[in-house]
Amino acid sequence: MLERIKRDLKAKLSARRYAHTESVVKTALEFLAVYDRSAETHDRVEIAAWLHDCVKELKNDEQVDLAKFYGIEVHPEDIASPNLLHARNSAAFAEETYEIVDPRILNAIREHTLGAPEMCLEAKILYLADMLEPGRDAAIKAKSDPNASEINYSSELDSMRALALAGKIDEALLAAMNSKITYVIRKNQPIHPLGVLARNYLLLSSLAT
Ligand SMILES: [Fe+2]
Ligand SMILES: [Fe+2]
Repeated sequence: MLERIKRDLKAKLSARRYAHTESVVKTALEFLAVYDRSAETHDRVEIAAWLHDCVKELKNDEQVDLAKFYGIEVHPEDIASPNLLHARNSAAFAEETYEIVDPRILNAIREHTLGAPEMCLEAKILYLADMLEPGRDAAIKAKSDPNASEINYSSELDSMRALALAGKIDEALLAAMNSKITYVIRKNQPIHPLGVLARNYLLLSSLAT
């Protein structure tokens, strides 16, 4: 199945998105090795990472239409930023096209942008790998002047990587969610409720232990 998925993605995605996807697979498997070395989890993370952005390059109105087609709840915050739907749409597309039924694979794809309460290991790994794959830094540098906030962001990513590789996955995840939500606030955009639920769940469960 993986060979078919890779062939389809190569034909469908831009070179930049394909390279990002390849890098997410590699980073996800590096992070995973710290937590779980079983073949089953490895395979689940690998498949989820390959498919995580499979419909990301659709246009805004196509994302909204696809979500409606799949019966996915579309929030007002999705209408404001339809690209946020790509994770939920990619999961539905992967389920339909590749007949993936494993909920851990589907949840990992679905939750890779906003997170969710009670994320499984595969979902946490994919969320972090998507944000922390090395191409992210290159993308930031290519875009930016040597501007203080971007340099800070690069070092923020480094500290999240260090946490993920040190076995502190929930700390890495909370830092990642805080960083994303802070970015949304800085841009004065609405915060998606699913991201708030995910972050609060993680924070409250870490306080409870
Ligand atoms: Fe994505
Ligand atoms: Fe991605």
